[in-house]
Amino acid sequence: MSRGLTRVFGRSLAHRACFATQSTHFPELITGDPYNNVSESIAAKVGVNLHCQPNHPLNIIKSKIVSYFDQLHAQGQPKMQVFDNLSPVTTTENCFDQLLIAKDHVSRKATDTYYLNPTTLLRTHTSCHQVPMLSKGIKNFLVAGDVYRRDEIDASHYPVFHQMEGVRFFPELDATLPYEERVEIVKEHLKATLEGMVESIFGKVEMRWVEAYFPFTEPSLELEIFFEGEWLEVLGCGVTRREIAENANVINEVGWAFGLGLERLSMVLFDIPDIRLFWSQDPRFLTQFQDGVITKFKPYSKYPPCYKDVSFWLSKDFHENNLYEIVRDIAGDMVEKVEIVDAFVHPKTNRESKCFRITYRHHDRNLTNEEVDAIQLVVRESLVANLGIELR
Ligand code: PHE
Repeated sequence: MSRGLTRVFGRSLAHRACFATQSTHFPELITGDPYNNVSESIAAKVGVNLHCQPNHPLNIIKSKIVSYFDQLHAQGQPKMQVFDNLSPVTTTENCFDQLLIAKDHVSRKATDTYYLNPTTLLRTHTSCHQVPMLSKGIKNFLVAGDVYRRDEIDASHYPVFHQMEGVRFFPELDATLPYEERVEIVKEHLKATLEGMVESIFGKVEMRWVEAYFPFTEPSLELEIFFEGEWLEVLGCGVTRREIAENANVINEVGWAFGLGLERLSMVLFDIPDIRLFWSQDPRFLTQFQDGVITKFKPYSKYPPCYKDVSFWLSKDFHENNLYEIVRDIAGDMVEKVEIVDAFVHPKTNRESKCFRITYRHHDRNLTNEEVDAIQLVVRESLVANLGIELR
């Protein structure tokens, strides 16, 4: 088996050293299965591990969170084992079924998720590791990793981003106490722990808890902070549902779990205005940050944008995400944003038309008009060939 295969498909949960690589290509992700929808541009992101790159904002935030839990450990709490190099290739069982995510939930749809085949996919959240870890008897841990979701294109959405997950169980709780009472104790522990974590990252800020829903926790909560004049959601969490623990053969024990997006936190903390910047190789970006410190990003001159519209009649099962994928695959990080600027239904034929505006702009270099025109032409042809739309 090639080195690439072992790295992508390796299911070992053992902690391996986490390396950031310039760019690794995993052709094994493109399987030829009719259900396979992993594009070249996505395959190229797998294994890059930005969250392990020294002096990278995502790594700085990850390390801050790890340090906070190490500090709790020094005060007598159990050690949180850290896993930041688990394979992002997972199964529908680990990612959805074992977490009680409904069979018809949108996150399972091929329009929203990258599949290798109908049962193997790129993880959509780091929660996919909960049951496998618990099954191995690992009950206190942190996972950091890249997650994949097919999505729209703008400054805060990118099909790959990074999450951090935390799980903690309490086998020491008196099992003769009614289950509900133990849930209450665990919930209070969770809230205090996460308030402390957020304070260790943001300093003293106003916080509020908001009720939420996740299929795998009950109760479920979100923590929001008042930061630079706005309420901002920073994480989702809750008390792990009994059935989830039972799926891992952990019986009659109560625990909590939380998950957060590293880009989201970093964008706020470092003032990073565009999610694509995390992938930048430009020294003007990379040299601004230093392990252990949070500094404000100093924007360097932006190159001018170039707008191109494409209008067409929709095909029968047209889905926006398929269009975004094609644009990204062809234009890569030259595309800043794709938005719908017009939509109508023809009064006589009932045919539906949409017009999308593509904003081309690269962070690291200037794009020439000829270059953009050439790309736009390929995009248009590819939309016809792959989506069966009819250009107008
Ligand atoms: N996995 C959830 C998400 O991606 C976050 C979460 C993790 C919520 C753990 C509760 C517990 O949105």
